[in-house]
Amino acid sequence: MAPAPPALVAVLAARPDDEERVTAFVAGLSPRSRTLRFFTGMPRVDRRTARALVAVDDRRDVLLAVDGDSRVVGHAMGFLRDDTTEIAVVVADGWQGMGVGSRLVRTLLRRAAERGARNVGMDVMGENRRALQIIRHWWPDARTRIESGTVEVVAAIAPARAPGVPEPAVTRPERPLTWCPPPTFAEQGSVESPLTL
Ligand SMILES: CC(C)(COP(=O)(O)OP(=O)(O)OC[C@H]1O[C@@H](n2cnc3c(N)ncnc32)[C@H](O)[C@@H]1OP(=O)(O)O)[C@@H](O)C(=O)NCCC(=O)NCCS
Repeated sequence: MAPAPPALVAVLAARPDDEERVTAFVAGLSPRSRTLRFFTGMPRVDRRTARALVAVDDRRDVLLAVDGDSRVVGHAMGFLRDDTTEIAVVVADGWQGMGVGSRLVRTLLRRAAERGARNVGMDVMGENRRALQIIRHWWPDARTRIESGTVEVVAAIAPARAPGVPEPAVTRPERPLTWCPPPTFAEQGSVESPLTL
């Protein structure tokens, strides 16, 4: 399949007013990408789910990748438990394989390290061969455990992903980015279930 037209992608911290754009993003994912990320086809994003997908607090971080038309093209969440940040990420089907997921994860881990995280944890469906290959590529020393068809991964956050390492831009700069609000944490109440819905 031909790659999507070039554009500039910004990585932003989610805010409560991103609910609608995140809902549209999840609704636009293929059933397969939705299943690999949420472990369910989740055909409908209700209000509670949308709120959970943008909810941030002192342990929960949410980043959005946004294209030049302000559309969400990637979503990444981290939940800090002791010194481990549990993360989950999904990129729009037409944008996969273009560096968006890497940038989201690197930024998420840098921010988690700033909050004291030393390890990263992920739950990945056993059939998600691509994500498991990427994990092996990024974290060759990761510890894995298989539990009911899910691969539980824990890895040390590498020094290269620690605070202070500048992030290269996601480079597809043909369309100008018309807006770029500063990345701020939004004040929002906690929602119970952190990564799966
Ligand atoms: C998994 C996913 C998030 C990756 O995002 P992406 O934008 O497609 O990935 P990227 O283009 O940033 O590539 C990620 C990295 O893996 C590498 N990579 C890509 N495909 C690879 C493969 N098959 N084998 C090994 N490494 C691979 C890339 O080179 C890149 O590494 P780098 O940062 O060192 O250059 C995305 O494919 C997705 O949304 N999948 C569906 C949902 C899902 O599976 N989520 C994960 C479980 S929560």
